[in-house]
Order: sequence, then C-alpha cells, then structure tokens
Amino acid sequence: MSVRRLAEDQFQPAAFAFSDENAVWADKTIQKYPAGRQQSAVIPLLMRAQEQDGWVTRAAIEKIADMLDMAYIRVLEVATFYTQFQLHPVGTRAHVQVCGTTPCMLRGSEALMSVCKSKIHAHPFERNAEGTLSWEEVECLGACVNAPMVMIGKDTYEDLTPARLEEIIDTFAAGNGASIKPGTQIDRIFSAPEGGLTSLTTEEPKARTRAKKADAESVSAPVDAAPVPPSEAARPKSTDAETNAALKTPATAPKAATKNAKAAEEQPVSGTAAAEPAPAVKAVAPAAKPSLTDKNRPAGIEKPAAPDDLKMISGVGPKIEATLNEIGIFTFAQVASWKKLEREWVDGYLNFRGRIERDDWVKQAKALAKGGEAEYIKVFGKKPR
Ligand code: FES
Repeated sequence: MSVRRLAEDQFQPAAFAFSDENAVWADKTIQKYPAGRQQSAVIPLLMRAQEQDGWVTRAAIEKIADMLDMAYIRVLEVATFYTQFQLHPVGTRAHVQVCGTTPCMLRGSEALMSVCKSKIHAHPFERNAEGTLSWEEVECLGACVNAPMVMIGKDTYEDLTPARLEEIIDTFAAGNGASIKPGTQIDRIFSAPEGGLTSLTTEEPKARTRAKKADAESVSAPVDAAPVPPSEAARPKSTDAETNAALKTPATAPKAATKNAKAAEEQPVSGTAAAEPAPAVKAVAPAAKPSLTDKNRPAGIEKPAAPDDLKMISGVGPKIEATLNEIGIFTFAQVASWKKLEREWVDGYLNFRGRIERDDWVKQAKALAKGGEAEYIKVFGKKPR
C-alpha cells in the first residue's frame, strides 16, 4: 500500500470548476441530503470531479470543500483515504489497480504486477510513454472469491492469469477497453464454481419433501400409532444430516451418509412425531442428458462467417458458448426462436436446472438480435455481460 499524498505542485492546476452539466448534477446531488447533512455529498462530488478531469486535484478538493461548507482538511482526508480517488495524473485510457491483499497474492497477484511493470512502467503511478496507461497496487477490492483480480475504472476483471491481463492491457492501450467484458475471465457465472455447479445439483428441496412423503406413506404405520395431525404430516422431518445424506447419496449410499441417516433416525424429535422413525430417503439419480437425436433438439446451422457473441447473454460463458456452437447454435436469432420444449432440451443438455428460463435467454437473445447492445440496454437497463 502506497502513501497517498497530493500530486506535486508542478501537476496541480490553478483552479477547478465543474462543467455546466456536472455543476447542475452536483447541485441536485447536494439537495438529496437532509438540511445540515450536505457534507454527505463529498464522495459523489469527488468522484464526479475525478471522472471529469481524470484525477482529483487540490483545486477540486478545495472547490468541493467550499461547496459543502467543509474544512479543506476534511475533504482531503476523504480523498486520501479511498484508493478509488486518484491523487496524481493517471493513464488516460486505463489506470490498473492490482489487488495485492492475501487471497489475491496467494493466487498470483505478484505475477500480475510483473505484467504491469513490463507493459506499463517499472514503478506504480508512473505513466507509460504515451501517457495512456498507469498502475498501482491496492488493498482488497472485494472480489477475493475470484482472485486474483484488478480494477480499471469502475469495473473489475477477475480470475486473471498474466497472459489474460496482458491481453486486457493491450486492448485498453488500443482504446478498445469497452469491448472487454468485466467480471470473471474464465468459465464461471459470477462467483459460482468454475465449470458449473458442484453442489445442489440434484432435485429441489420441495421435490425431496414430496419424495419423502411418498416413501412415508408406503411404510405401514404401527397399529397403535397415534394419528399424525395434518400440520405435522406436512412438515418435513429431515435433519440436516439426513438432507445432506440424501443430496450426496448415489445409488449405493456411502457409509458415512448411511451412518448420518441412521443417527438422524435415532435423534429424538419433539411432539407427536417423536416416536416415528424417520423414513428412509431414496437416492435421486441425476437427470439423464437428453439425446442428440431427440426431436426437441433445436435445429443447428453451419458456423456463419460472423457468428454472434453468445457470451453477451447472461449465463453463457466461454465453455457454454463452445458447447452451444458444437450443437450448431451460433446466433442470437436461433436462441430467440427456441420454443419451450427446445429450451428444456438445451437446459437439460447443459445440466442447467432451469437456468435458461430463470435468466430468460430468449428475451435477452431477442433484444440482442434486434439491436445489439443498445437494444439490450433499452430492454434491461444495463449492459449485457
Ligand atoms: S484479496 Fe483481492 S479482492 Fe479481496
């Protein structure tokens, strides 16, 4: 972590003023806070000043302090505390903030910093020859689960390798930074496990409850057993141990799971149901992958000269895109045209457990097919992934 000081005098401009548009925005922002609490606008105003000029100057700090009726030192304290504020001129196309805190360090942040040193400048905060790039080491940026990572502007780029960071830096240097999808750079959805789910891959809890109830009904009740009140009968009687055993038990139950289930049976349960042994839970085999010759498989096409970037659909990573391409799916229009049975076929083929519906691939694909990113933003109010 570097010492955070204002840039030397030689870099400091004599004055700062918000542009007309930003001045209107600043007035509105200040008014959002209750009377006497206008100082709460200090962070948004500093951020807007940085967005306008590229970094936070001393003149900007003083101007914002005057606007909010704050002592200069109070605004300076805020600006020097948060690493989101740049106190020196930084690269005009990218300032790369490399997280060097423990999880990222253990997963390779030092190699990422070596890339920055070789591609940008040997020292942090120094700009490259063209003045377009700079870098620094920062503390945890809150994406540790996908370590190692960097932040550029307001976006994070996660699960990085040195090679991937080199590509990202080159793309920003060429002025095409907006073309890179932020977030994870590998085949995972947000921070879900790489390559797909590794847990909760069997049936939903509700379905488990139904299966157990059916089992319970098939076991003959003792002759003198007291009738179970409906509310009690409806209540799932599984314990965590039993549920875990059910989730993980394949056709032949591992010893530990069997033991846990047995222990669960022996656990006293309060109320009328205490005397009932917990019913055995049947293992649930994972759903079979649908056949490639199934009639519901969506029609594939030959790879077009310019296939669509299916990764723009939320829920599609590089690996899923490759699988879709394998079955002849290359365009948004194809995805947009899928009927229910076709969606179910693809969902089953990808072992997605309903995610195609949940993420509404068809709606996303329709927007992308109609007007690309602009239409997607119009429909969903945000950029595609
Ligand atoms: S340790 Fe790097 S993001 Fe948290």
